[in-house]
Amino acid sequence: MTAVAISATGLFTPAQSITNEELVVAFNAYVERFNAENAAAIADGVVAALAPSSTEFIEKASGIKARYVMDKAGILDPAIMCPRIPERPNDEISVMAELGVAAAKEAMARAGREGGDIDAVLCAASNMQRAYPAMAVEIQHALGIDGYAFDMNVACSSATFGIQTAADFIRAGHARSVLVVNPEICSGHLNWRDRDSHFIFGDVGTAILVERADIAPSGSWAILGTKLKTKFSNNIRNNFGFLNRAAPSGEGKPDKLFIQEGRKVFKEVVPMVADMILGHMAELNLQPENLRRLWLHQANANMNRLISERVLGREATPQESPTVLDEYANTSSAGSIIAFHKHCDDMQTGDRGLICSFGAGYSAGTVFVAKAA
Ligand code: COA
Repeated sequence: MTAVAISATGLFTPAQSITNEELVVAFNAYVERFNAENAAAIADGVVAALAPSSTEFIEKASGIKARYVMDKAGILDPAIMCPRIPERPNDEISVMAELGVAAAKEAMARAGREGGDIDAVLCAASNMQRAYPAMAVEIQHALGIDGYAFDMNVACSSATFGIQTAADFIRAGHARSVLVVNPEICSGHLNWRDRDSHFIFGDVGTAILVERADIAPSGSWAILGTKLKTKFSNNIRNNFGFLNRAAPSGEGKPDKLFIQEGRKVFKEVVPMVADMILGHMAELNLQPENLRRLWLHQANANMNRLISERVLGREATPQESPTVLDEYANTSSAGSIIAFHKHCDDMQTGDRGLICSFGAGYSAGTVFVAKAA
């Protein structure tokens, strides 16, 4: 079988960031305003009073301290509480494609690639800005890439599903070099008025260049094996779609934005992912001591602690299971790729690690890699 490698990754981080403190001040101003405006109905028991959020809870429950966003002002305005990202005319690059292109350019530069070297583009992300043309085709065009491109959405697991799809195209001989791009503008699908989840997400773009190992540059990452899994669950859901475009979103009808049963997700996904990793390790004859690093999906620090403990048989050190949650929050499919991108430079030839994602679907993906010479 054709050997496949990750040649390079790229990262685009938005310029604006929101700390937990700033977020909670805005949320609590919204709560006060809502409770004041609805004081009579609340007193009559018709409307439930809203409870304030707290920075202590957020950090303890999730490990998140801040998040990057595309529009801080709109999110922090208690009267708006969502990003205001102006629509662009059709002859301008769309904002999601722009984010993807910025990340892709870094991955391409690191691998020494021009557009003409790449055969296909996958835009793998949890939300697409529009129905069509595919975001991937716009990104392909902006980068001067010939060949084919398409979008794929497997929520938080989009990047690992994209890596396996790219690797399969290469193994089948359809492509030699495939760019997987993950523009995640999660601030657009987060309900910033929902106390249970308003702190969860941030915006970012990542890119992964997957190539035939024999053309990959030095310092690339051999893909040892990939595995994907899905299992239907309603515990993380977003009902926004083209069949309900007239339905109100936000207050009162929040199911057109991100909703979840966080505790159930925690309880059900931790064992599912740990078992999947251990099963894949057994297939690849890998022992815990063979793994130098776990670049896990970045949704919740406590989940990652439990998963890495089950995999290694002991608690992982921060070096073994790096987190970017504190700075980036949950960036959906991009999270494990940011962790990989920022925490792989110290790895030596032969060192092995795991890129792992999990999330809505449920979906999970494991990609074992080894640093090449
Ligand atoms: N500020 C203060 N308190 C809050 C709060 C907030 N923003 N949000 C909830 N609370 C309170 C709740 O009211 C509850 O209080 P109670 O015990 O008096 O009823 C308490 O904190 C615990 O709430 P709970 O929702 O059970 O918290 P948790 O410890 O389970 O953490 C999550 C919540 C969402 C962070 C956690 O369950 C999680 O990360 N789950 C996995 C989510 C995930 O990976 N999703 C994938 C997304 S793609």
